[in-house]
Amino acid sequence: MGRFDGKVGVVTGAGGGIGEAYAKGLAREGASVVIAEIDAAAAERVAKEIEAAGGHALAVETDVSSESSTKDMARRASEAFGGVDYLINNAAIFKNMEQHELLEVSIDYWNRFMAVNMTGPLIVTRAVAASMKQRGGGAIINQSSTAAWMGGGYYSIAKLALNGLTHALARELGPHGIRVNAIAPGPTGTDALRSAAPDEVVQALVASMPISRLGEPEDMVGPALFLLSDDARWVTGMVLNVDGGQLMRA
Ligand SMILES: NC(=O)c1ccc[n+]([C@@H]2O[C@H](COP(=O)([O-])OP(=O)(O)OC[C@H]3O[C@@H](n4cnc5c(N)ncnc54)[C@H](O)[C@@H]3O)[C@@H](O)[C@H]2O)c1
Repeated sequence: MGRFDGKVGVVTGAGGGIGEAYAKGLAREGASVVIAEIDAAAAERVAKEIEAAGGHALAVETDVSSESSTKDMARRASEAFGGVDYLINNAAIFKNMEQHELLEVSIDYWNRFMAVNMTGPLIVTRAVAASMKQRGGGAIINQSSTAAWMGGGYYSIAKLALNGLTHALARELGPHGIRVNAIAPGPTGTDALRSAAPDEVVQALVASMPISRLGEPEDMVGPALFLLSDDARWVTGMVLNVDGGQLMRA
């Protein structure tokens, strides 16, 4: 018996990194999982691995910045598994992201970045909320970052906005039995982090942390499953740092 038997979870950007760990964690505990990912081949790989391990998964090529793509994903999730109970808004432009000063970044890149990293979680929430309401409630996690509080340009700005979205959606969806929380990981050892931050910057960060090591994708899974589960039934609008103590907020 798993904690999430009979439940259905959508994880965006689950074709690798932390999203893959979330999807596999949910599947291990009995949920059917939709891998909503822009990289179709990566989504297929993760879905096949979940199925091979005895779980249930569906890969759906999805662009979180597109209303039609996310609506199509929600429809396919309902056709395959009957509806949606949980959503983890994990997808983001992070791997190989361009790094520019705010006064230099082209407005086209800024708009694309924000469409995926900031507006994407709202678009996917809108695509699945009706099904959650129909099933009597649900739970959502937005993947923030400790970068939200570190002033790191547009990546940080998008994560700060996501914290605000978490609070606003928690208020709007609470009356429908839908809880909305966020996880703010500290530096976590994925290919994307290696592409986005130089080694020496990451090493310096890690050296300053009370639990002085890089996070692993699996470190995020327990806290995420807790926030989705009924153990967190009175927890909403919370941004939970999972960061080895990197940032402590009073
Ligand atoms: N790794 C870290 O140190 C760290 C720390 C804090 C927060 N985060 C956040 O965690 C999440 C996962 O990070 P990761 O390190 O696994 O990076 P990642 O780049 O491997 O994961 C992002 C995933 O999103 C997918 N994606 C990108 N654009 C998309 C779109 N338009 N539609 C659907 N999918 C799309 C990518 O293909 C990729 O699989 C991101 O939100 C990131 O900002 C990461």
